[in-house]
Amino acid sequence: MSLTDILASRYSVRGFLPKPVPQKELEDIFAAAQMSASNCNTQPWQPLVVSGDKAKTVSSAMLAEIMSGTAPYPDFEWNVKYQDEHRTRQFGSANALYSAMGIAREDKPARNMAMGRNWQFFGAPHAIFFTMEKYLGIMGAVDVGIYAQTLSLLMKERGIDSCMQGALGQFPGPVKEIFDVPEERGILFGMSFGYADPDHSANQARTDRAPLGDSVRFES
Ligand SMILES: Cc1cc2nc3c(=O)[nH]c(=O)nc-3n(C[C@H](O)[C@H](O)[C@H](O)COP(=O)(O)O)c2cc1C
Repeated sequence: MSLTDILASRYSVRGFLPKPVPQKELEDIFAAAQMSASNCNTQPWQPLVVSGDKAKTVSSAMLAEIMSGTAPYPDFEWNVKYQDEHRTRQFGSANALYSAMGIAREDKPARNMAMGRNWQFFGAPHAIFFTMEKYLGIMGAVDVGIYAQTLSLLMKERGIDSCMQGALGQFPGPVKEIFDVPEERGILFGMSFGYADPDHSANQARTDRAPLGDSVRFES
């Protein structure tokens, strides 16, 4: 598949089959992603990839914290209030998902249940927590974002789907405790990945994009 075709066919998958990705394939993908560009070649990404029992343990620990009523406490600022067209698009993506799942706008409990699936990795056998040194701030975040996109496209090339998740950075405590992540390192966001369940209602959701002229300005 060409890169253009990969991009055209990629979408956020939120329902996975339990089948794990073979370890050798994981290593090949992550080895290829090491070639991502970064500012001054600093390569600030330090992804923590969780699978199997470890994934189940950290998922349960995060859910327990959420159920106990703890408010999100991300390591990095993650509480932008979207405005204007950004807000419209934010609602558009939520509506696409909840409509596909048959969840009505006013059905708060069902929405909360759907939201909670984030911390169950949408049933995926693997998840990544993208960690980086906190002091890097926006410079590191740019590089880690580029790295994450590279990973997701390399996966798609091999038939592996994914969903990036800011949600996975919202309750960093259990992740850091279970995996002994040093205090000076933060979790920027995460990503669940594996083989898509084609029949899952959440995977029927699609988003659109603004016309080119609304985003890109060409000058010559
Ligand atoms: C940095 C980032 C964080 C995201 N966080 C979440 C999340 O926490 N939960 C979720 O279900 N989707 C999340 N998404 C997926 C976006 O909602 C999705 O990419 C967007 O709506 C466009 O849809 P598409 O990926 O299907 O093209 C995130 C995407 C990015 C790039």
